[in-house]
Amino acid sequence: MRYANRLIAGWVLTTLVVAAGCVTAPPTEQGAGTGGGANKTGPVRIGFSMDTLKEERWQRDKELFEAHAKELGAQVFTEVANGDDSQQVNQADNLLTRGIDVLVVVPHNGEIAASIVNKAKAAGVPVISYDRLIKNSDVDLYVSHQVEKIGEMQAQYALDKVPKGNYVLIGGAPTDNNALLLRVGQKRILDPAVARGDIKIVADPMARDWLPVEALKHTENALTQNSNNVQAIVSSNDGTAGGAIQALESQRLVGKVVVTGQDADLAACQRVVEGRQSMTIYKPIKPLAYSAVENAVKLARGEKPATSTTVNNGKIDVPAILEEPISVDANNMATTVIKDGFWKTEDVYKNVPRDKWPK
Ligand code: GAL
Repeated sequence: MRYANRLIAGWVLTTLVVAAGCVTAPPTEQGAGTGGGANKTGPVRIGFSMDTLKEERWQRDKELFEAHAKELGAQVFTEVANGDDSQQVNQADNLLTRGIDVLVVVPHNGEIAASIVNKAKAAGVPVISYDRLIKNSDVDLYVSHQVEKIGEMQAQYALDKVPKGNYVLIGGAPTDNNALLLRVGQKRILDPAVARGDIKIVADPMARDWLPVEALKHTENALTQNSNNVQAIVSSNDGTAGGAIQALESQRLVGKVVVTGQDADLAACQRVVEGRQSMTIYKPIKPLAYSAVENAVKLARGEKPATSTTVNNGKIDVPAILEEPISVDANNMATTVIKDGFWKTEDVYKNVPRDKWPK
């Protein structure tokens, strides 16, 4: 992009971001390009490059991230790419031009985002890969949940309820490393049951960009091809579970087929307590967002984050912090999602008769 264009794009973005209340102060060139390091003094400037705000969870990630940065006296510049790779690359370029000290990225495409890391590193700016791993690059830190374990939990839940029968697996975006890891975890649990001849995986499509409408279409096809003879749908997140359940609805199969999910979206939690979705995976967002902010500040100051593990991204073993996921169904909704204040009883149980609400 030409400099003049970039200026205009920067102005438009800044205006949008400020209008959305994401930024505490307009960016200035003062102190720009410090690129972090031990000598960094004054407020840390964090660039937060997000793929999307489509799924509910990302709004929570954004809010908690920005709020905690404020508490720590750091400035955040948030950009959202709306699922567009070239947009995400341009926005990251922009953030670097604005003199951020550290960059936190939720990649839309884990491969393409390597170019973002390369540019940041060339400018001396450390990079945190947030929730989704950026592949083949010198990422400084990866903060996420134990994604393969989530896949295992989803599959194990389904297998406990449906030890024999036909399975459909609805995966997430093939461009998202998490979608691939979830599938690895799911297959680790299901493959032995397939080998025993107990279950059959009759379809295992991936939903482009995690779109519920893609999941709807894939589920419709699987139901048609198998004359509705499907007992379990291992859906990788709540959005795609919603699409799958919509397909079940038109066949009057809701509640009869086990459906898994992930994210503890409000709509999904409601479906779970109404018996329309079997389970979800609750991932507390606060520890993730807080740890990303705290470690961003550390990296900007040239300090080393405390990590307990590493994850190979195809190029290096990336130091990683991986939070614990929690499996949630109607039995433990009250003691997990609600107890934590993630959602309120009256919202989750809105469509359930009051005498059935948890005490
Ligand atoms: C995954 C993420 C999930 C879900 C999905 C769709 O990478 O781990 O929580 O939100 O993306 O955005």
